[in-house]
Amino acid sequence: MAQREPLRTYSGKQLVSFLRKGDFAHAGEEEAIDLAFSNFEHRPKQTILDVGCGLGGTADYIQKHYLGQVTGLDIEKKTILYAQKKYPACVFHCCDVLNAAQVITQTFDIICLFNSFYAFSEPLLALRTLNKLIKVKGKIIVFDYSDPCLKEITPLFRAGDKNTSPFMPIPLRSIDSLLAQSGWQPLKKIDLSLQYIQWYTQLIDRLLENENEIMRLFSQSLFQKALETYSSIKKSLIAGVLGGILLCAEKRVIA
Ligand SMILES: C[S@@+](CC[C@H](N)C(=O)[O-])C[C@H]1O[C@@H](n2cnc3c(N)ncnc32)[C@H](O)[C@@H]1O
Repeated sequence: MAQREPLRTYSGKQLVSFLRKGDFAHAGEEEAIDLAFSNFEHRPKQTILDVGCGLGGTADYIQKHYLGQVTGLDIEKKTILYAQKKYPACVFHCCDVLNAAQVITQTFDIICLFNSFYAFSEPLLALRTLNKLIKVKGKIIVFDYSDPCLKEITPLFRAGDKNTSPFMPIPLRSIDSLLAQSGWQPLKKIDLSLQYIQWYTQLIDRLLENENEIMRLFSQSLFQKALETYSSIKKSLIAGVLGGILLCAEKRVIA
């Protein structure tokens, strides 16, 4: 497995949680979850799979506010151990999204991904695997960075190698074809680029306001890494070479 960048390690995730004031590692925190789920009808017994669930705050929030039974999965073991302990009302599995259909035997009404899709090295295979875990008429919600494809590739693009994990924003030019090839019918695409700029501005402000506390609780290098990462994301968002998107699709019914 590729070595994780500092912010994607367990202590990096703890710093992100500290800044985001909850066990979230996605832009917009609760506001983003509400935005995503406001697009769906909520039923008390719906089953939801949160893929790349991180520390479990999103799964917990969804379970409490949207009445479903939430299962989370993440590739990182320490993260899942934390989530299992802190949020026992949800179920968590440690596995790669590509192995999810072997590890999880049930199917779901909704599958959601909050800023995890960009980190998958095999996006098409991930979508195909998740298609096996969805009920007929079930929906997938992908909240993530987008690549408007104005340049050949966004400057932040990274395919990932043995030392780095991927940063692959959703390519707006080819996402429909990716969905079609993996058994999904697109329903909605909502551009969140302006909201992403606002969310990253707030995040950088919070980072700078808490500099001393972060140095004490974490380290100078983690502070610097966070500042560098968030600043370059914000710069790309403002330049329009990176965006944000909420994508909803339904399992395609094959006649
Ligand atoms: C930016 S974090 C988002 C976490 C969570 N969705 C949230 O909003 O708090 C991305 C997460 O995706 C997980 N991840 C990356 N690659 C994965 C893979 N191949 N399979 C499962 N999880 C993966 C990482 O371990 C990380 O916890």
